[in-house]
Amino acid sequence: MIVCGPSSISLGTEVTGILGQERILFDTKVFPDGESYVRIDTPVEGLNVTIINTLFPDQDKRFVETLLMCDALRRNGAKEITVVTPYLAYARQDKVFRDGEPVAPKALGSALRCSGVDRLVVVEAHSGEALEALGIPNVNVQVEKRMSQFISSVNVDTDLVVAPDVKAAERAGKIADVLNADLMVFSKKRDRSSGEVVCEPLNTVHLQGKTAFIVDDIISTGRSVASASEYLKRGGVKSVYAVCVHALMLGESEVRIKQAGVGEIFGSNTIENRFAKFSVAQEIADAIKPFC
Ligand code: R5P
Repeated sequence: MIVCGPSSISLGTEVTGILGQERILFDTKVFPDGESYVRIDTPVEGLNVTIINTLFPDQDKRFVETLLMCDALRRNGAKEITVVTPYLAYARQDKVFRDGEPVAPKALGSALRCSGVDRLVVVEAHSGEALEALGIPNVNVQVEKRMSQFISSVNVDTDLVVAPDVKAAERAGKIADVLNADLMVFSKKRDRSSGEVVCEPLNTVHLQGKTAFIVDDIISTGRSVASASEYLKRGGVKSVYAVCVHALMLGESEVRIKQAGVGEIFGSNTIENRFAKFSVAQEIADAIKPFC
């Protein structure tokens, strides 16, 4: 059985369609003090149940709601619980950067385990360290093939794929191979107090007149994409686009990115906002099929 949580109704509906399953929803409401209420009306005793509920926007609320759904399923007799968080929030605090900090994914994983979760399925988790810190079995769904297809559908003549930092290089490299495009990798420095980002190229590529896609896992403040785009534009790139898996698109990010010369910004439906232009439903369906 597949249950679509409130933050992934559209993506979850697509996944149930692909797997030929009925779409089940929780009854949900928010109490006057802001607390979440959930209730499942469908019998789940003895069933393997998969919940799909992304953790953005409103990460804290989405996470508590997910825990409540798991607890309800477990106390109503669900046999196994798989949680799909298409966007895994808190993954960037995957280590102690400064004394006194937590390892956030560890805390999330412990809470999920205590709520009866057997495994977690994530789309393009921020890092291997985050997955390891979860401390529960997990599956990291890769979607670079889908991104390559999407880029081809937007522009058949993409001749440059750009990684705004070294961590994004592997994904960008695979996409560049599929598209038969050049690869450019930047090194990125972010000032921890001001948040300012400076991207400097690690390799030299002919830029004049090219069509470039900057590819990343997350666009948050948009500073990484903006800094890379400014460099590309200065070098004579004709058109710049940005594509990511998780388009958080906070605050002034859209303006910042567009001012840096990016024509369009594309994300996937791991986050159901207006930037969601390609679907990762098939990849999620393939990943959860063995557990449904
Ligand atoms: C960082 O390691 C991630 O892969 C992204 O590059 C980062 O989250 C993007 O953040 P922003 O949009 O704030 O530059």
